[in-house]
Amino acid sequence: MTARLTPPLAKDLFDFPPDLVWALHCAKGPVPRSAVQAARDFLNLELRPWESGPDNWLKPTQSLREEAARLCSARAEDFTLVASTSDGLTKVAQSYPWREGDEALAPLGEFPSNAWPWKALAAHGVSWREVPLWDGHKAGRDALAGAPPAAGLKPEQSLLEAIGTRTRILTVSWVRFQDGLRLDLKRLAAGCAERGVDLVVDGIQGAGTLPVVLEGLAAFCTGVHKGLLSPQGVGLLWTDPGFRARLNPMGSWLSVEQGADFSRPVTDFERAWLGDGRKLEQGGSGGLLLTAAAASLAALNRAGTEDIARHVDALQAEFLRRLAGSGQWGEEARRLEALRAENRLGPILSLHHRGRGMAALDAAQKAGLGRRIFTSTREGYLRIALHGWHDDRDIARLVDWLA
Ligand SMILES: Cc1ncc(COP(=O)(O)O)c(C=O)c1O
Repeated sequence: MTARLTPPLAKDLFDFPPDLVWALHCAKGPVPRSAVQAARDFLNLELRPWESGPDNWLKPTQSLREEAARLCSARAEDFTLVASTSDGLTKVAQSYPWREGDEALAPLGEFPSNAWPWKALAAHGVSWREVPLWDGHKAGRDALAGAPPAAGLKPEQSLLEAIGTRTRILTVSWVRFQDGLRLDLKRLAAGCAERGVDLVVDGIQGAGTLPVVLEGLAAFCTGVHKGLLSPQGVGLLWTDPGFRARLNPMGSWLSVEQGADFSRPVTDFERAWLGDGRKLEQGGSGGLLLTAAAASLAALNRAGTEDIARHVDALQAEFLRRLAGSGQWGEEARRLEALRAENRLGPILSLHHRGRGMAALDAAQKAGLGRRIFTSTREGYLRIALHGWHDDRDIARLVDWLA
């Protein structure tokens, strides 16, 4: 290595054994000790509700909104606390003022959390259309027969050119789950604004490892169990206030003014819907999970996602430089390095099977497991996900395994 890379997230924030490489946060992020401790403390209070008061669950809702706001340079009141990415996207899809014949548009091969909420709208006469992003891009049954993304591609242009007169929403993954391609949200937002289309983003594969920029987006949703390093069961849905004003409320008792103020009869239904993110929220939230998520986001905010992103990029550059010399993966390393140089990658390095098939990738992944290296395979790719705690030693172990 040219210079030693100091991880912005210290390894001892987690419980990693020294010989283990967790390159799998694209499936499940490790939870920092501080978050587990915060959840334990919260759970202990459940033993003695007379000490904490009946509204103990409300405190973590506020702390999580505030940490989410710091992470995304946004306002706390624009967040809706949801149960998962799917839950947030479903809320947007269900509350949107559709007209029969409208269309939602998406890239080909989205993770199903960003497909089924829109496909479910067929019953309301709303259709769903997928757009290939590069030559040879395939998904579904043909996924393995497709070509991987390569430098010079213009996925934003493909999407914007596909917008038709019936398109109301363009919904995309910020970072794609299988091939790891990162879309330029700024460019998409500008194109959508010109065409009067709302841009909705599934941000789960970028949140925590890339700075979130919400400018020009209608909605951004992420579960917290991957790069945001929290237990599964919570999602953050951010909505632009102007966009949110056009959504129908989801109808929870906490989505109305003074909803939880028992000094006023709660059976008084003459009250207005809230205008902030709570407009789309469910009833009472699970304080235990929210407490852990708030502590995980606090750890990420202390490290800073700008620093984490710089660190991950430097690790990727070093990993790809060293892998480029390997016979088996050299070509893939060069393809990914060219994408990296164009700011086209998020935290996932997805090595394409190149005709070798899933069995070859699964065998490589299994061989990694034998060395206590945890990675994953999806739709023709072997995924290696790096985060703010990885260091030079991890890179050496990964290169050694593959080369
Ligand atoms: C792009 C993407 N979106 C969403 C999810 C998860 O969705 P949910 O939070 O609804 O479980 C995943 C992976 O599990 C994903 O890769």
